[in-house]
Amino acid sequence: MNYLVLAPIVLVMIALRFTRLNILGWLAVWWIAAYLAISYGIEPPLPSSIIGMFMGIVTLALLAYLTVRTDDMNFVKRAAIRFLTDKKYTLPLALTVIALPLLAAFNVYLDAAKAPQPPAAGRTVHPPPPTEITFKGKKIDLVNGVNPYRELQAEDPEAFRAHLANGRKVYFQNCVFCHGDNMEGKGLFAHAFDPLPANFQDPTTIAMLQETYLFWRIAKGAPGLPEESTPWASAMPAWEHFLSEEEIWDVILFMYEYTGHKPREKEEVH
Ligand code: HEC
Repeated sequence: MNYLVLAPIVLVMIALRFTRLNILGWLAVWWIAAYLAISYGIEPPLPSSIIGMFMGIVTLALLAYLTVRTDDMNFVKRAAIRFLTDKKYTLPLALTVIALPLLAAFNVYLDAAKAPQPPAAGRTVHPPPPTEITFKGKKIDLVNGVNPYRELQAEDPEAFRAHLANGRKVYFQNCVFCHGDNMEGKGLFAHAFDPLPANFQDPTTIAMLQETYLFWRIAKGAPGLPEESTPWASAMPAWEHFLSEEEIWDVILFMYEYTGHKPREKEEVH
């Protein structure tokens, strides 16, 4: 309870008894007092949906009160008819007729203009990978495995370049639409997805992951993500259905080459 708010409201309502306010003014003051008391007089503040419900009940109760005395009813009826027909009220009437739909529209606008909020449940962007996966019937070790073509970089640069060229082809035929031609996750389709396609330039994505981790994510896509990563629907396809093992290792080589990042090495345990 917030007595600093409630006390003045109660005082005003008591003072109201000594005035000769007509029934319309009386209803209005009661309605406003109820609104202020519910919105600001209660600690911790109520959610707006509850306030809306309470005010619905208050409105009904005040209308029920109004119908108790025929005199009051007739007074309000006459006032309404005067407002609708008396020349003197033409301007306020016109303003009311214009304002009502505008208010409704403004309310809808306020609702629509709210920035979309992520779901309350957090999403684990980089869940721990499984220790091994099965790729087209073949077991791939994610803990001790390596990109089989990585060693060519030192041993056979020519062959390495061929793998890079193949990776480039794979990337620009399959990944560019989402991950973008700059690998910033801003492809043509990207803005349609939530979560957004990963930004490989960002130091918190491939730069801190092992190549086998990428292999897992590319091969198994969103369907392969564990529970803790899936309150949001990732659009990442499972490429095992479309690409060969070599094509996936090649595109991984290309992703590091193109962004200038180094894959994370397997940590040695001493
Ligand atoms: C339909 C859109 C789409 C396409 C096409 C797509 N991706 Fe993705 N990708 C995503 C989304 C969305 C995410 C982020 C959510 C997630 O991690 O699953 C993602 C995440 C990833 C990640 C995880 C990065 C990280 O930091 O965990 C990798 C790796 C990846 N994509 C590689 C690829 C490769 C390689 C291709 C092409 C063979 C590709 N993606 C094609 C949408 C796509």
